[in-house]
Amino acid sequence: MDRIRIVGGKQLIGSIPISGAKNAALPLMIASLLTEDTLVLENVPRLADVGLLQRILLNHGVDVMLSGKRPGDAPYDGQTVKISASNIVDTTAPYELVSKMRASFWVLAPLVARMGQAKVSLPGGCAIGTRPVDLLIMALRQLGAKIDIDGGYVLAYAPNGLRGGEINFPKVTVGGTHTALMAASLASGTTVIENAAREPEIVDLADCLNKMGAKITGAGASRIVIEGVSKLNGARHAVLPDRIETGTYAMAVAMTGGDVLLEGGRAELLQSALDTIEQAGAKISVTNKGIRVSRNGAGIAPVDVTTEPFPGFPTDLQAQLIALMTCAKGTSRITETIFENRFMHVQELARLGAQIALDGQTATIAGVEKLKGAPVMATDLRASVSLVIAALAAEGETMVNRVYHLDRGFERLEDKLVACGATVERISG
Ligand code: EPU
Repeated sequence: MDRIRIVGGKQLIGSIPISGAKNAALPLMIASLLTEDTLVLENVPRLADVGLLQRILLNHGVDVMLSGKRPGDAPYDGQTVKISASNIVDTTAPYELVSKMRASFWVLAPLVARMGQAKVSLPGGCAIGTRPVDLLIMALRQLGAKIDIDGGYVLAYAPNGLRGGEINFPKVTVGGTHTALMAASLASGTTVIENAAREPEIVDLADCLNKMGAKITGAGASRIVIEGVSKLNGARHAVLPDRIETGTYAMAVAMTGGDVLLEGGRAELLQSALDTIEQAGAKISVTNKGIRVSRNGAGIAPVDVTTEPFPGFPTDLQAQLIALMTCAKGTSRITETIFENRFMHVQELARLGAQIALDGQTATIAGVEKLKGAPVMATDLRASVSLVIAALAAEGETMVNRVYHLDRGFERLEDKLVACGATVERISG
């Protein structure tokens, strides 16, 4: 298993290219199951989760073709993926594959919408909370799917196709909204989604589906209306930039001090996080090339933040913000409202000398003068990268174990940090 060795104490100075968003690329790739034609996705990040989803799609008989680099491409340009689901040979997604990545459960919606049936394994446990799929199932039932659960699998049937309906989510859910969008696009009649998730990745999926011939209005608002169509076509679509990667590197710069251009980052995708980072003492300016983040001299100011669905502060940046606040001049309070068990990084940050008290869903962080390097490990992607942020500012050496978590969602993390002057090295083995 690879490890990452970091020697802290250097400022970050330079430029970091922002990759395509993992959480947009995954549902976009899954949307390829809705059409016989080829879906061409550009700016797809090179990530372990993208590779895993390719394997899941291959299992359904989908052709996935990755274009190689073309002359003139920059080393960080995302890849172009051509996906053709002209012939779906198997509508089952097995446990061995779905249990490795929760988002693969989302194949349920396009498979039942297009093929009239699907059998998809329940995803199973997760390090950040129970993460049920009841609302995804509710959405499909509202569109007329008959659903049974048997032997750990969800079996969905709609032999005569899905029909439009009212879907009123009692809780905002990104996966539930992706499911409803994909299923309703091929249902007969009109679907109205109330209390839809408003995340930029929802808008990206809806934009792509519309290019494929869907009739979706209102994505990005709480009420989305979909006029079902009988067939979707191929399309070409570029994945939007990763707002969580952008926010993560912005916090890394706020932590170490320095001056970095987050190339291709788009401020409107993470305004609440940028406001928080500014409040913490960093300077943010938006240029035509991206977002510039700097912090010089002044220390880190404490903040009080609660995670919320978009446009609020994202849960996927909560661990990174806690890492930043470990060195603030004062006490911060950070409350997690989306997942019930997303504080696994707290004990590991404590190994670096952080002072954090947990009370239910709130972490109270008393800033310390200096963190000190130590061996650490984490149980999920965002927790792992929070340890990297802390390590970049810690005195001495930190060894981050279980790097495969980072590889799921951060493309060439060590290269991007080294290019800005950090001492970071991957140790294979
Ligand atoms: N929920 C239910 N029932 C459901 C579905 C969700 O109770 O049927 C609950 C969840 O347990 C949670 C809340 O609703 O408490 C929100 O969950 P949501 O469905 O919005 O999350 P998700 O779709 O499973 C996506 C991202 C997560 C991100 C969340 C919230 C992808 C692939 N995953 O998950 O990203 O944290 O939205 O924004 O898009 C990550 O990238 O590290 C990550 C965990």
